[in-house]
Amino acid sequence: MTLFITFEGPEGSGKTTQIRLLADALRSQGYDVLTTREPGGTVIGDAIRSVLLSIEHHTMSPRAETLLFNAARAQIVDEVIRPALDAGRIVLCDRYADSTLAYQGYGREQDLDELRALGRYATAALTPDVTIYLDIDPHAGLARKRAGDAAEWNRMEEETLAYHQAVRAGYHALAAQEPERWLLLDATARPGVLHETLLSRLEPHLIAMKERNPA
Ligand code: TMP
Repeated sequence: MTLFITFEGPEGSGKTTQIRLLADALRSQGYDVLTTREPGGTVIGDAIRSVLLSIEHHTMSPRAETLLFNAARAQIVDEVIRPALDAGRIVLCDRYADSTLAYQGYGREQDLDELRALGRYATAALTPDVTIYLDIDPHAGLARKRAGDAAEWNRMEEETLAYHQAVRAGYHALAAQEPERWLLLDATARPGVLHETLLSRLEPHLIAMKERNPA
């Protein structure tokens, strides 16, 4: 059994809660699940995360930013995600290469083809089987974030509302390009309701996984 599931969404879309609920549900069905996040998930990735997200680093160049996100990604793929998939586990990752296309591509207007080539290099061409996108208007999502833990407020969240709206529109464009990979969900639903919807939308993918790997 092996399945690579990524979670994407604008700020404050509730990915952390949904990943926890999904991991618990899959474990209770007997699956071996690993959860991780980007940037981070490794000692090296966490060090890169603090450079990337520190609000003091407001002069960071968009290319430096892109390369650092991809450096953290290369590390987590080699050290955590690829070995877990090879061991037959289900991997749930909070953000992955699509975040770079949305935030650095659509948000910072970096060239999408160049970002895709860089992403292939950073991931050694490892693409998710399923990407769960939790959609929320950035205005509402940022308000949720502001009401939360102040220590988690980061440099990307300091960006303008227009930036975050471009990121959201970018996600919609990416999802439209690969509708078979992306599951789009309304993140304003109550967490329990959202979780149930997510589980039922994921079910066909779990069935397909079992058919690919009969026990
Ligand atoms: P998080 O708050 O979901 O942990 O994500 C950290 C921030 O980094 C969030 O604002 C999205 C941003 N980000 C990018 O801009 N590009 C990327 O490739 C990734 C993974 C995250």
